[in-house]
Amino acid sequence: DKGNHRHFMQKEIFEQPVVVAQTLGAYLRPLEEQVALPALPFDLAEIRRISIVACGTSYYAGMVAKYWIEQLARVPVELDIASEFRYRAPVLEEGGMALFISQSGETADTLAALRHAAENGQKTAVVVNVASSSMAREADLVLPTHAGPEIGVASTKAFTCQLGVLAAFAANLARARGRLDAAEEKRIVNLLAEVPAAMNAALAHDAAIEEMAPVIAKARDVLYMGRGPDYPLALEGALKLKEISYIHAEGYAAGELKHGPIALIDENVPVIVMAPSGPLFEKTVSNMQEVQARGGQVVLISDPEGLRAAAEDCLATIEMPHVDAFIAPMVYAIPVQLLAYHVAVAKGTDVDQPRNLAKSVTVE
Ligand code: M6R
Repeated sequence: DKGNHRHFMQKEIFEQPVVVAQTLGAYLRPLEEQVALPALPFDLAEIRRISIVACGTSYYAGMVAKYWIEQLARVPVELDIASEFRYRAPVLEEGGMALFISQSGETADTLAALRHAAENGQKTAVVVNVASSSMAREADLVLPTHAGPEIGVASTKAFTCQLGVLAAFAANLARARGRLDAAEEKRIVNLLAEVPAAMNAALAHDAAIEEMAPVIAKARDVLYMGRGPDYPLALEGALKLKEISYIHAEGYAAGELKHGPIALIDENVPVIVMAPSGPLFEKTVSNMQEVQARGGQVVLISDPEGLRAAAEDCLATIEMPHVDAFIAPMVYAIPVQLLAYHVAVAKGTDVDQPRNLAKSVTVE
């Protein structure tokens, strides 16, 4: 049931504050200001390396998790697209854990990768939305997302719920390794507890995004850029736009544009820039200015402080609440989802059932 929404995707975008709160609730103890995982079948302190493996949007969640895990827990993380994992004969040593991320728990490549990791002595864990799925049955550790059924082919709420679980996982791993003191744990828990309200504040800018959509809908190509943990969001934004509006889109690490893609820039290529104020803001803005100097039309997504500093020559802006850099990827997911959604609606495509795509990809 779509309720009063026009599409399942729209409904699922707007559900995020609730389902993310629900998901985080299973991994946080807000009163004690602690993070907590369900009972573990192995000791996190013994994990020496992590391989994260997934496809599509779930892969981009894994990419954010790599930043979080390495930053908080200092455990090296390798990241693979599931269809590549087995065939490159990955080095899987003792003390390794393989972490799979999947909304459906049935994606053939991810399931085959899970089996490969288990056969090669890895502890296996899965972040999964469907509790009865094959991956949930086969993994040593199941970390459920509580997103509820996701109907739209373009993944939205499953993604932000995956991020919630992965942030809590990163904090737990850090604590198990003695790298998270009580004050830092308290800080992380309080930041995560802020996410649902920050998501509501982001959703409040829906009308402004809808208003700019017809302009973006005319573009043949759109680029997205971000830095650090917001770089995966650039990739995710581009994937969402491609999937449902059929506009060619690419995401880049902001600093990488000048190594080639900037040759594409002219006044017909909108560039969506994600730049929360914080440690990486200045660098991202200088990459944005390189684009503007070549006639690029920028849509800047930032908080009031960032917009005050850098909005001047932009085609449009999307305002986000001011949030800590740690949780920014969860909040900045919303405007890129909404932008893809409204552009697709403006183009009149089938938002919930885009051509050539299936909700769950059960062939390799
Ligand atoms: O069910 P999974 O999370 O394993 O699915 C992975 C991808 O097929 C999926 O994320 C796909 O990329 C979505 N259509 C993205 O919106």
